[in-house]
Amino acid sequence: MAVTIPSKLDAATLRSDFPIFEQTFHGRPLAYLDSAASSQKPRQVLDAMTRFYETSYANVHRGVYELAERATAALEGARGKVARFVNAPAEREIVFVRNATEALNLVAYAWGLKNLGPGDTVVVTELEHHANFVPWQFVAGKVGAEFKVLDVDDDGHLDPARLDELVGEANVKVVATGYVSNVLGGAQDVPAIAAWAHARGAIHVCDAAQAAPHKRVDVQALGSDFVAVSGHKMLGPSGIGFLWGKAELLVEMDPFLTGGHMIRSVRADRTTWGELPHKFEAGTAPMAEAVGLGAAIDYLEDVGLENVEAYEHELVAYALEQLREIPGVELYGPPANERAGIVTFNVESVHPHDVAQVLDLDAVAIRAGHHCCQPLMSKLGVVATNRASFYLYTVPDEIDRLAAGVRRVKEQFGV
Ligand SMILES: Cc1ncc(COP(=O)(O)O)c(C=O)c1O
Repeated sequence: MAVTIPSKLDAATLRSDFPIFEQTFHGRPLAYLDSAASSQKPRQVLDAMTRFYETSYANVHRGVYELAERATAALEGARGKVARFVNAPAEREIVFVRNATEALNLVAYAWGLKNLGPGDTVVVTELEHHANFVPWQFVAGKVGAEFKVLDVDDDGHLDPARLDELVGEANVKVVATGYVSNVLGGAQDVPAIAAWAHARGAIHVCDAAQAAPHKRVDVQALGSDFVAVSGHKMLGPSGIGFLWGKAELLVEMDPFLTGGHMIRSVRADRTTWGELPHKFEAGTAPMAEAVGLGAAIDYLEDVGLENVEAYEHELVAYALEQLREIPGVELYGPPANERAGIVTFNVESVHPHDVAQVLDLDAVAIRAGHHCCQPLMSKLGVVATNRASFYLYTVPDEIDRLAAGVRRVKEQFGV
């Protein structure tokens, strides 16, 4: 029985902006509970991209004709929206990339290779998505720096006080931590961790891929030096994300990718780099994608991120209540009011892939696997979990269908 969640956000109405929900799967309406992997796109984003292709498309920055100038204005307009969205002090501190993974690799390579060496220490945590774990492990290995992993408690809380214990007197140069966990949904105290890093003379790198879609990300309030975000998780198209970085650090870094557009001058004996952010944007920009991201930001600002966050707390509370009533369901993660719209669970004696497949027969789409977080899976003592994740278009009826599906799984597997 679906409840009505009292909220400032009217998910049922917003849902009609999303064409994907107009079709059925296995004869049933889609219950899309995999938004943490990637969100669906509202018509406003799709229309903005189509309009750009139909009226303003040309390669940016290079053309002197009016159409090219229009395309450039659209791309740079999107950069301005991103900068305001995260309260960046300057638009040139926003670097467009393909996704958060690329943003984090950019920092690990372009900052790490220049600034890390033997005797230095890089700190990540057990909670990290592989995108904020593997690049640091790889670059630390390449330069001979030490790589340390901060543990978390079973609910996924990081204790900044444990950092001292972990590193002792080590020469810490980078602390790379996520804001919101894509498995447990909990948010970390980023300002406290960034302050700890700075007190040790290190930089702080924040993976905000799972935060930006669901809560206000203010880069100045976070106090990090770099913040990475993917557009496709926050209603934007795939193929675009952004890195915010402090200008003084970006200016000192070498480029990550080289080639067209990112140069000032190229000669046989020497090449010099362009200004920010172009130094980090080699090749043709993701122009239509940037326009789509800008439209996604407009959409989120219209709905209000505070409303999205509050609504997701309500959805999580409702889902936890439903799933807790089912014997044999193990739930992971902190209390509802501490998390974004993510509920991770296992059904006793049933592999998560089997759970997800049974749910799919009723068009309930959830994720099963290690969620690119194998260190955290080890911590939880499992190889995989199920994850249902929600967004501003999720309605309580979908959560009822999730709970009904889990009961059906138990019946089918006789557990
Ligand atoms: C916390 C977190 N960080 C980073 C990423 C990587 O994002 P992308 O695949 O868009 O690069 C994800 C994606 O699931 C994520 O959840």
